[in-house]
Amino acid sequence: MLARQGLLAIFGARLVLAGVLGTRATAPAGGQFGLYAYGDGISGAQVFYSNDMAFIGDQTQIDDEEAASVLFTAANDVFIGNPDMQSSRGFPSWSNKAFFIPTSTSASHRVGFTSKTAGDGDADVDTSGFIFYEGTALHQSADNTLHGLWYVLPTPSKRVWSVHWNATTSSKADGHLLVKLRNVPPARPF
Ligand SMILES: *[C@@H]1O[C@H](CO)[C@@H](O)[C@H](O)[C@H]1NC(C)=O
Repeated sequence: MLARQGLLAIFGARLVLAGVLGTRATAPAGGQFGLYAYGDGISGAQVFYSNDMAFIGDQTQIDDEEAASVLFTAANDVFIGNPDMQSSRGFPSWSNKAFFIPTSTSASHRVGFTSKTAGDGDADVDTSGFIFYEGTALHQSADNTLHGLWYVLPTPSKRVWSVHWNATTSSKADGHLLVKLRNVPPARPF
């Protein structure tokens, strides 16, 4: 048990380096990683894709052939997502989607995926500035401050939450839960 925890700690540290240095050498197979949400009652639910939006939890609960867990690669500070074909139910046709958060002036809080690249980007979303700090995904603003403002909201589907950024209220009346998004999978699948 102790040995196992030691190994996990070392593995975690290597993942941090991979994120910070932007190198692929020490990241898991092929430099790909998943993002896993950790929060109150949520212990490592993986980020998945549906309709260009980010969700966590059990993607088989969603009636969408395109839904799939996302495998990311970091291209500098941009996270590019592709479907994990092994765990998806259907045969997702999407590929190479950039992970985004809404910009600080956007009215939307949704986190998702876009095919647009920096050049022809959407002014309402930010696809760059993502880094890992100790395995936790953060976003670096233009003013160089780091934020980890991820939260999730329940959906009508069981064990599925939608991923959001920068809650406007601290009241939990809307059912929101603050989460960390980490590149470290849970010891036991969520
Ligand atoms: C969060 O939203 C507020 C407005 O509600 C905005 O002023 C602030 O800049 C946002 N923070 C980030 C990091 O986007």
